[in-house]
Amino acid sequence: MSATVPTAISVDEAGAVLTIVRHGRTPLRAHAMWLRDRCECGDCRRSTTNERLLDQAALDPTTVIREASLSDSDDLMIVFSDGHQWTSGVGDVAVQIDPESDGPMGGRTRWPIGSFATFARSDLRDDVAVLEMLDRFVADGAVVVTGVEPSESGLRDTAGLIGQIQMTNYGPTWSFEASVDPVSEVESMHMLRMHTDLPYREQPAGVQLNLAISISSAGGASTFVDGYSMAEILREENPRAWDLLTSVHFEYPYLRSKVRLRGGGPLVGLDDVGHYGIVRRAPDLVGTPRVAAQDTADLYAAVRRWGEIVDDPANQIHVGLRPGELVIFDNHRLLHGRTAFTLQPGERRHLMGCYLEMDELRNTISVLRAASGGETR
Ligand SMILES: [Fe+2]
Repeated sequence: MSATVPTAISVDEAGAVLTIVRHGRTPLRAHAMWLRDRCECGDCRRSTTNERLLDQAALDPTTVIREASLSDSDDLMIVFSDGHQWTSGVGDVAVQIDPESDGPMGGRTRWPIGSFATFARSDLRDDVAVLEMLDRFVADGAVVVTGVEPSESGLRDTAGLIGQIQMTNYGPTWSFEASVDPVSEVESMHMLRMHTDLPYREQPAGVQLNLAISISSAGGASTFVDGYSMAEILREENPRAWDLLTSVHFEYPYLRSKVRLRGGGPLVGLDDVGHYGIVRRAPDLVGTPRVAAQDTADLYAAVRRWGEIVDDPANQIHVGLRPGELVIFDNHRLLHGRTAFTLQPGERRHLMGCYLEMDELRNTISVLRAASGGETR
């Protein structure tokens, strides 16, 4: 979130609305009831669990502000009509009601980036090191971990730094080995187009781990592109195309004998504060959009242009994983694929992977940050 620069506060005559005036930005207005509701004191919230002691539905509708002041250190102090008083950092208040979004990237790194940051598994032994890696993941969309035992237990060990593995229709972990006689495209030696995994789920897994178990073939590098940064390119060159791509719902039917899922959403989803959320792309699975006739031609043009941008090799990062190397990437944000390769007699290409919900990552980051004193709540 962006930092705010408060300069002054004022309260209207009735005591109903507090205004925070900031340098060069739209003033923020907060209602007395909302401010009263935010109180985190021991009478309003249980200090151990943050559970409510003040019932939101029982807030007095006649609540007004009797007194408000801003300290030199930007602490906002308010006294309410019920005699209650609280103090809070004004920045924390502002960030919750700021209508000026900091842009859809939400503070993440805009690509191009040269390569993914690399961390040795042996260095990820304490909370500070793990938090540094996870912060890098959030900023860039992916990190590489080296020195992982090339086995399922090595995969589970690194996943355990983030949280619980998510069970999907592929099981808790998946494993595939390239074959000269493949059942599916992923087991073939063909190039795999840039895609996201599980777009047919209402909530696709947010974090994906791919570990190289045995690689002895030339070629077959994993390719990645940042859907968020690519959406920014589209937004800048054609806002109308961006609007359609971020709002029109696409069906994603996935119909197999034991799996019949029909989740879906915009190709580039936004979250509830306007930051990029879930990107869905699987050209071989995508269904039809729910689009008005008058928007259809523009939408298909937007989809075509979007495809050109994400499939452009100039926008992609290639990662040639060696055995024991693992890439952790954001499956809501990055699209991934693979370059073509040729297996010679005796050569192998074996990868294992798993998924975690994005909540696991967010939880771990928040817990580690709180433990390091970086967060009070
Ligand atoms: Fe995939």
